[in-house]
Amino acid sequence: MTKTKIAVAKGDGIGPEIMDAVLNIMSHAGAQIEPYFIEMGKEWYQKGFGTGMTPESKKAIEDLGILFKGPMETPKGTGMKSINVTARKVWSTYANKRVFRSLPGVETVFSKAGIPIDITIVRENIEDTYGSIEHMLTYDVALCRRFITRPGSMQVHRYTFEMARNKGAKKVTCGHKANIMKITDGLFLECFYEVAKEYPEIQVNDVIVDDLAMKLVTSPDDFEIIVLPNLQGDIISDLCAGLVGGLGFAPAANIGDYISIFEAVHGTAPDIAGKNIANPTSLLLSGTMMLRHIGQPQIAENIEHALLETLNLGYHTADFLKGKDKQVGTREFSELIISHLPVKVLIDAGLNDTRHRIAITGNRMMESNENYAGEINGADLFIESNLQPGEVGKIFEELLDNRMWKLTTMSNRGTQVYPTGSIYTECINQYRVRIERVDETKEISQNDIFKLLQESGNRFIICSLEMLMIYYGKKSYSLAQGQ
Ligand code: NAI
Repeated sequence: MTKTKIAVAKGDGIGPEIMDAVLNIMSHAGAQIEPYFIEMGKEWYQKGFGTGMTPESKKAIEDLGILFKGPMETPKGTGMKSINVTARKVWSTYANKRVFRSLPGVETVFSKAGIPIDITIVRENIEDTYGSIEHMLTYDVALCRRFITRPGSMQVHRYTFEMARNKGAKKVTCGHKANIMKITDGLFLECFYEVAKEYPEIQVNDVIVDDLAMKLVTSPDDFEIIVLPNLQGDIISDLCAGLVGGLGFAPAANIGDYISIFEAVHGTAPDIAGKNIANPTSLLLSGTMMLRHIGQPQIAENIEHALLETLNLGYHTADFLKGKDKQVGTREFSELIISHLPVKVLIDAGLNDTRHRIAITGNRMMESNENYAGEINGADLFIESNLQPGEVGKIFEELLDNRMWKLTTMSNRGTQVYPTGSIYTECINQYRVRIERVDETKEISQNDIFKLLQESGNRFIICSLEMLMIYYGKKSYSLAQGQ
């Protein structure tokens, strides 16, 4: 029987000890995997590899398509981006799946109240504010760009619904903040309902993220699968981890079409590294997600069963506050799990990798409508100025060619201050000046905007520019508050 070769990075801090424990359990459980250990993590940053891994390691991950990793530390104060976030983005693992399930022996307020929890969160893993595209626009103003794309949203929603169908789930919920971010979260939500149409057997609903946070605490059993944009998904996942006893019990899978990454959700825990007290449960459960992903569900189930037996008997690692009598170290905990594995290892019939890896020769372009460019309707100019709103407005009114352009609104921190506003609106030294074409039937070009930019640049420092677009007759930009 051929084993599935997987790239394994033990990680930093507690990484090596929990990875050794987990691989030992998998080997005793009869997992048909062949670990290929790669060089990735803090040590390789320090050796001068800017990506935190050697080129050979990168190639191995890309060739094998599976990375099983321990937590990794990004050196502080070096300007290096997190290796974990980079890996997820570079290899397009667009869906971050985390499973939160009540475990026997892990007491929480919900387990005491007899409320079982079984929630799967799918967090979009590439976009949103995680592009880390940030700038200081003036000395006083910082900007972070937040990207939500149609193909990216379709991709994560399709994964969520496929997964829901495969596991026979009844309901999928979309968490969002589309009441405020009407364009970005609005697009995420629109794509959710578009994909949902292809899965009529699954009940769907959407909940605004703040309401979702409250409902997850008051009635967690109302939720089955929840899909969210990246940042909201990050926060809601940790909330769900709290519902089932903490991060130590929550596994994560980062799923892509070519490469998938399986890891624990916690970090390197430097405070307890090397002491044989770390809890390997989160990494072990990520490992069982990986075994299912590569077509070994029975072995995954055997391992989970042995883990539950061990927890049921009250054995636990030091992070889990219980009586001291059954507190054990990392190695002892893994040996107890091994002792509860089925004596006769159940091997999956027709076991092995069922993934179909597609050979690619270039970067995939994920355009939803490649022949449609939309219409330019004007531009938002972000300018630096500490003049009063009325003074800035007057300068622009004078400088614009009023046959071609009109100044529709000016806002400060998103609140309209011109042509109408309140003198009680506190301002910072930056305005958004919205200039639109007078005649919407007359086509304008990018060069017209550049001319406008140059003329405005003679009077003000231009910090940034956004085109105002019309797609299929719909103005595709937000209004200022008070407009
Ligand atoms: P952390 O998760 O490493 O530690 C937070 C607390 O939880 C500590 O008290 C730690 O002892 C405890 N803890 C974490 N995992 C545990 C386990 N398995 N068993 C028992 N106790 C455990 O978070 P922190 O301190 O914010 O980050 C430390 C380092 O980890 C940083 O360099 C950070 O960048 C990195 N990190 C890496 C991640 C990854 O590789 N995916 C994710 C999060 C953080």
